[in-house]
Amino acid sequence: MFKLFLPAVVALGALTLPSLLSAQDITVGEYASLTGSEATFGINSDNGVQLAAEEINNAGGVLGRKVKLIVEDDQSKAGQPSSAVKKLISSDKVVAVIGEIASSRSLEAGPICQEAKIPMVSPGSTNPTVTEKGDYIFRVCFIDPFQGTVMAKFALDTLKAKKVAILSDVTSDYSKGLSQYFTEYYKKHGGEIVIERSYSGGGSDKDFRAQLTAIRAAHPDAIFVPGYYTEAGLIGKQARTLGLKVPLLGGDGWDSPKLAEIAGNSLDGCYFSTHFSPADKSAKVQDFVKKYTAKFKTAPDGMAPLGYDAMMILAEAIKRAGTTDGDKVRDALASVKNYEAVTGNITIDEKRNAQKSAVVLEVAGKENKFVASVAP
Ligand code: PHE
Repeated sequence: MFKLFLPAVVALGALTLPSLLSAQDITVGEYASLTGSEATFGINSDNGVQLAAEEINNAGGVLGRKVKLIVEDDQSKAGQPSSAVKKLISSDKVVAVIGEIASSRSLEAGPICQEAKIPMVSPGSTNPTVTEKGDYIFRVCFIDPFQGTVMAKFALDTLKAKKVAILSDVTSDYSKGLSQYFTEYYKKHGGEIVIERSYSGGGSDKDFRAQLTAIRAAHPDAIFVPGYYTEAGLIGKQARTLGLKVPLLGGDGWDSPKLAEIAGNSLDGCYFSTHFSPADKSAKVQDFVKKYTAKFKTAPDGMAPLGYDAMMILAEAIKRAGTTDGDKVRDALASVKNYEAVTGNITIDEKRNAQKSAVVLEVAGKENKFVASVAP
């Protein structure tokens, strides 16, 4: 029997050797908004993920195997994240998933990863409910109760703004949450929210003059705009056209090279919180800025190092687990402690979130000026 089959087995082995070798790759899925209204979130976080995977592979891979990334574009559109993640899990058989940036999209696809017991690592979704979807869902960034506090405190203590108007995006879990956390801290510490207005993001609303006219009549000292850059840029422009001179404040959703492109100079002197400043002098940040700029010919925004950190932490977890089994990788992710990431020191807490510092930046033309770093 054996003798008879041996040549056939050898021949078969030779034929399938290349495919066998690539079957050894560790396949990691990623879903991101590479196109659409938040395209810079997806493009820049993906750049970071790719840079990390390249470095990992150049250093010999993980568990002696190469990391192979399969990236799906969710077009910044609701409905797409779930299809993308279903495909990654059932057709591509990925061992883990990186994504998303926008909280609403992580909230849509997270339950699918949870159900399949495939660990998901979000680079930038800050709404607290994202990781509440289950014990396979992690993030490498801070959460919005912290970010909201940072900006409310900044409004009160640094800007001495006693009256704030809020203009938020009703279609975004991120925007609704951030406005709630900002309000809680701001009111508790003596601030007054003089008016609240809203819009529909994702490229639907382009004219914010009705909301801004009402806001102008309420005479706020500052306007909090916890939305994404596409709308924030337009809101800045239209606010100035209507003669509103007070500073606008935002969160990490403003962090995009497109913000200044859309806003012109209308947001100069305005402030937002985010995860990273390329002006940070630490060796880890400067080394990342150098590598990133050399490869992509542009300076990194906050998304890029978050993508990089997500990929690095996932690789580290697989290495420590010694296997790609979902439950073991999950356990390894849950026990990440004091990992020196580009965006700061990461310890995953019992709620699968990272407690990290935020930075406050001032919009100044195409560059942002570093204003402050705020510890958790
Ligand atoms: N935190 C935002 C959200 O949860 C996404 C984001 C992260 C945007 C980092 C910019 C930078 O939707």
